[in-house]
Amino acid sequence: MKITVLNGSPKGERSDTLVMTRAFIEGMGRVCPTEVITVHAAVANIEYCSGCFACKHNGGKCIHDDDMTGILEDMLSSDLIIYSFGLYSYGMPGALKNLLDRTMPLSSWNMYRDTEGKYGHKFQYDVSRMRFMMICGCGYPNSKHNFEGAVRQFELKYPDNCGIITVPESPMFNIPQAAQFVSPRIEELKDAGEEFAKNGALSDETMKKICSPMIPEEIYAKFANGERH
Ligand SMILES: Cc1cc2nc3c(=O)[nH]c(=O)nc-3n(C[C@H](O)[C@H](O)[C@H](O)COP(=O)(O)O)c2cc1C
Repeated sequence: MKITVLNGSPKGERSDTLVMTRAFIEGMGRVCPTEVITVHAAVANIEYCSGCFACKHNGGKCIHDDDMTGILEDMLSSDLIIYSFGLYSYGMPGALKNLLDRTMPLSSWNMYRDTEGKYGHKFQYDVSRMRFMMICGCGYPNSKHNFEGAVRQFELKYPDNCGIITVPESPMFNIPQAAQFVSPRIEELKDAGEEFAKNGALSDETMKKICSPMIPEEIYAKFANGERH
């Protein structure tokens, strides 16, 4: 299975969220061989979308000649695209949003309207085998009143075949002293990856487990605020 990871963290390899994403992919690897390509959006050479819509009228060719050409090729040849990012201002970090905008060449000019009245552009390539996943960490200990904007954007963008994992308290993934609380979650994420590779979806039970805080909200908040006693 070919997987393209679009890493939105400006911290690159040091991303907290990437620890989760890698665990998930490792679990998938228990079921099938995986080929993983990781794009670090913050250092890739990606111009802003110019909004010209030229890509919709000339067979998906963008006016910009930059790293996005290769990234789109990788996406199109992948079975799974993972948007991996830490929550920034209740949404995705700017570099990843810029990359997302530049996926415009993948869809055609024609709009469709779904049964609920939502409009969107249809893909102009066969993406029927492709799955889209968002794996998102965040610095606050709460999920409610925090992840909603990013989750809704992803659901609207990829209404078919999308999976969403959100995990609060994610800076703990890169704090060695937190290992005892983090290690079980990493194992759960590996198991979740295995489940996803087997079933193509995650059960409600698994989602509840992996998306919960790793330590109680109040204790995390106290530690984060420097109140250790
Ligand atoms: C500019 C900026 C904005 C942030 N906004 C939020 C936010 O809205 N909610 C939240 O819970 N954490 C927020 N955080 C914290 C990050 O989500 C957190 O540090 C996360 O672990 C970073 O993940 P990464 O290492 O994968 O980039 C923000 C951090 C930065 C630097």
